[in-house]
Amino acid sequence: MSTLVTGIGELVTNDPSMGEGRLGAVPDAALVVSDDEVAWVGPAGTAPDADTRVDLGGRAVLPGFVDSHTHLVFAGDRSAEFEARMSGAAYDGGGIALTVAATRQATDDELRTHLRRLVGEMRAQGTTTVEVKSGYGLSVEQEARSLRLAREVTAETTFLGAHVVPPEYVGRTSEYVELVTGPMLAACAPYARWVDVFCEPASPHAFDGEASRAVLEAGRDAGLALRVHANQLSAGPGVALAVELGAASADHCTHLTAADVEALAGAATVATLLPGVEFSTRSPYPDARRLLDAGVTVALATDCNPGSCFTSSMAFCLALAVRDMRMTPAEALWAATAGGAAALRRGDVGRLAVGARADLVVLDAPSYRHLAHRPGVPLARVLDPPAPPSR
Ligand code: NIG
Ligand code: FE
Repeated sequence: MSTLVTGIGELVTNDPSMGEGRLGAVPDAALVVSDDEVAWVGPAGTAPDADTRVDLGGRAVLPGFVDSHTHLVFAGDRSAEFEARMSGAAYDGGGIALTVAATRQATDDELRTHLRRLVGEMRAQGTTTVEVKSGYGLSVEQEARSLRLAREVTAETTFLGAHVVPPEYVGRTSEYVELVTGPMLAACAPYARWVDVFCEPASPHAFDGEASRAVLEAGRDAGLALRVHANQLSAGPGVALAVELGAASADHCTHLTAADVEALAGAATVATLLPGVEFSTRSPYPDARRLLDAGVTVALATDCNPGSCFTSSMAFCLALAVRDMRMTPAEALWAATAGGAAALRRGDVGRLAVGARADLVVLDAPSYRHLAHRPGVPLARVLDPPAPPSR
């Protein structure tokens, strides 16, 4: 069955050959969806016929947001930690242990219900592709369980057994790394596409460059592709390691050396910026302009998690990127859609060109510029019948 979508005041395709600029924006456009794929895109006047029609009355249409970095499998609440930060406490990852304790005690159904609620919350705000990490179980059984549950909602699952050193291994980091790279990886790899590590020598809870390398190389040898929590709290070795090992993405990139920027500019590794974290930890934002001006591919994601940033809203992160990181509205939208797709090495999402998934987001506004121009207003919704959730 095919559907002709008309009355699109502005269509963002992210295909420069289709329209204006990098967003490939087409005014007064139409689009045909067939079998959950984009079958035709172009100016409204030249649209072909289809089985059914939807008229959007001049609203803007964008590719669904691609949220390439989240931690949604968890239990418990850390709002008190947020409150303490707003009064001056610093974030160092120490609170993760609280979430680990609560997650270990939760039943599968409790975790599943909460996970599905968050994914639903994201979809209701225009996110059609989501990556989900483990990292609050930190034992063989608990990490495998987290990934099994994550797999129920997305194909973009990430093994993050090396999130922090769990309480029972404190002072025995190398033994924990052996567990992560041995039995834990073996139990988790069947449910994961990616491996990740919190590479942060500045945190007493996370992993240094050497341990991070061991985790990433073991993951790669087990057939997983790589992504890295890099340079969040300090200009550590994470970005250089991500580039050297060919990771799809280095995430956070808050503290970068000139060599890091140069390495990213010459690499296929995407710099995924998570401005909700800086907002929610009251920290300086990453220097997005420096990265963009150097030619680095930049993505935006929420990092939705119970500690450093508990927003599920890509639109909020996009508004922060425009207001506080000086990305243009077009750069921010590209980063939140095509950038996220690049960070997940996906060619079928993050764009609305023929053959792409029909993940259409309708804005209750005439232009994508309104996403940042009207912060906090729920403008974005997934156009549902043509587009089922992207997996
Ligand atoms: O990406 N940096 C490490 N991990 C998460 C935070 C997890 C938490 O605080 O619960 C992050 O910010
Ligand atoms: Fe994270």
